[in-house]
Amino acid sequence: MDFSELIRKRYSVRAYKRDPVEDDKLQQVLEAARLAPTAANLQPFQLVVIRTAGREAELRRIYHREWFTQAPLVICMCGVPGQGWVRSSDRKSYTDVDAAIVMDHLILAATNLGLGTCWIAAFNPVAAREVLGLPEGVEPIVFTPLGYPDDQPGPKERKPLSDLVRYERW
Ligand SMILES: Cc1cc2nc3c(=O)[nH]c(=O)nc-3n(C[C@H](O)[C@H](O)[C@H](O)COP(=O)(O)O)c2cc1C
Repeated sequence: MDFSELIRKRYSVRAYKRDPVEDDKLQQVLEAARLAPTAANLQPFQLVVIRTAGREAELRRIYHREWFTQAPLVICMCGVPGQGWVRSSDRKSYTDVDAAIVMDHLILAATNLGLGTCWIAAFNPVAAREVLGLPEGVEPIVFTPLGYPDDQPGPKERKPLSDLVRYERW
């Protein structure tokens, strides 16, 4: 798919078919994540791939939407801030930025393969830690289901560029 078509085609999928995701497609999506850039190339993240079959009830403790567990897979992007780059002048951690870039690679690769995804940040982090058994120092940052879409995209509602871009200075 042409890149501009790809970024227009991606949308938040909130209904999924039960059809399995082929393993080679899962591997392609994960490989796209692996190739993403991170600050100082430190790659301070771990992806947890979860098969939803039979785990629907406990997964809904993490995010209480029926469509969350409709897809055969859910992926959790975890940051490991202790392994990430921190700007020395003000101690700002870039692990969340790294995680977002990696997730965007994953999501665009999925879209390119006809798979649906949805960024999910409004999850319960305490339940996520428990259900996934996350060790200390590992932070769940964002989830996405991964499966074939069973809905249609709505119109893209975005601010015009004139509201979002300034040239030369604020
Ligand atoms: C960081 C982030 C967190 C999000 N969290 C949620 C969420 O918890 N639940 C949800 O249904 N959508 C969530 N979304 C999806 C946004 O609502 C969606 O991307 C936005 O409305 C634009 O729609 P589109 O993705 O279909 O283009 C999130 C998106 C981002 C980027």
